[in-house]
Amino acid sequence: MCWPRCALCILLIQLFVVPCIHGLGILLPLYIYPNGTNCAAWSPVFDAISANSNAQWYIIINPDTGPGPTDELYETCVTEIPASANQIIMGFVDTTAGNVLGDIDTYAGWPASSRPHGIFFAKISATASQLSTYQSYVSHARSQGFGFIGLDPGETVTDTSYFSMANLTNTYEDSYASFNPASLTGTMSQQSVILVNSPTTGTYTAVISQLENLGVGAVYISTVADTSQALPAQLSEFASEVASAKGGGSTGSNDSSGTTTSNPAAGNKPPIAAIVGAVIGVLIILLIFLVIFLRLRRRRSASAPEADRVVPFIEVRNLDAAEPVALSRSWNTDIKVPPPALKASTSADNTTMAYPNLSVRVSYPTTLRLSGAPTYGSAWGSPPSYHNDD
Ligand SMILES: *[C@@H]1O[C@H](CO)[C@@H](O)[C@H](O)[C@H]1NC(C)=O
Ligand SMILES: *[C@@H]1O[C@H](CO)[C@@H](O)[C@H](O)[C@H]1NC(C)=O
Ligand SMILES: *[C@@H]1O[C@H](CO)[C@@H](O)[C@H](O)[C@H]1NC(C)=O
Repeated sequence: MCWPRCALCILLIQLFVVPCIHGLGILLPLYIYPNGTNCAAWSPVFDAISANSNAQWYIIINPDTGPGPTDELYETCVTEIPASANQIIMGFVDTTAGNVLGDIDTYAGWPASSRPHGIFFAKISATASQLSTYQSYVSHARSQGFGFIGLDPGETVTDTSYFSMANLTNTYEDSYASFNPASLTGTMSQQSVILVNSPTTGTYTAVISQLENLGVGAVYISTVADTSQALPAQLSEFASEVASAKGGGSTGSNDSSGTTTSNPAAGNKPPIAAIVGAVIGVLIILLIFLVIFLRLRRRRSASAPEADRVVPFIEVRNLDAAEPVALSRSWNTDIKVPPPALKASTSADNTTMAYPNLSVRVSYPTTLRLSGAPTYGSAWGSPPSYHNDD
């Protein structure tokens, strides 16, 4: 009976939420080891994610050129990665070394709290002859529950079978200076690019807005060489520039490198359509929550009693004989009041009350305790509670 409404919810979520969160994502090969207390070596990454939690992050973790032996420190640090919208964490697997299927199984065996969402297959050579090998890796990963597959040929891929096999295929991994966005071919939204040796000053907004306008899936821009595992010197600038490019291309100046780093949001006004879309999206989401809330509330009041709705006890105390307590409330109950405990009169039957308006009057010093324990039955809804101890 939920189906028509659930289907509507899913449709609305797809129509409004998904377009809001797609756009250029941030690819982050997180290859350094999280040394130090509180995973200190990763703290610049934690800061960048927290400051840009609206961006789509694709984080590649790599304990030891693959999962390596069990490393609880590493697994704990993975759980410390701050949350962000639709965050995807992939486990690095080197397809040219070791045991690819075994590595996948190792990640699959991690505790649920640190287990990656997907697998990033590194060092792919996207040729026709290798296709079936990679397809078997990917289907093994999917069978182990990894819903997101990244491939890293690091160069232009002409065989579209590779795009359809993966969720994200990295088709450029070379210097920032020699990158030309116009050279990208194929389905842009399923591609990422890795630009290394980028300038250590200035903004990357020109190339970021070109990638955003092309509809490219994700980008990583690093000041260090491809062979280095160090984090980029401009990690936070890069992340905030991608985050603020999201949802519409920049019409601002295309500052090239060499200038000082300016506020990436400045001169980068979101178009009216994006604002209207966002407002409608938020209203729809609120509506969905309202529908869900009303449904839950209706179900709660309409269905049979369940253990989790049992109120532990209901207590009415009046120790002052001169000041009787009158208690009159409506609530649902199937309480069987044990006669010895109830030295009071009730308007309902005082041994079995099925869904009455219960009215209890305690007229002299006593304690009336209606227990939710099975002996006494149970009550749910909004229980009466009255104390007059003095
Ligand atoms: C991280 O810790 C390991 C093991 O203690 C050590 O070998 C390595 O040099 C450390 N790396 C850094 C960057 O501190
Ligand atoms: C990844 O690709 C699979 C297969 O095409 C698809 O079912 C899944 O929804 C994709 N996941 C994401 C997060 O896009
Ligand atoms: C920035 O824009 C100017 C003028 O439109 C153009 O000549 C220049 O090539 C652009 N620079 C980049 C890096 O796109």
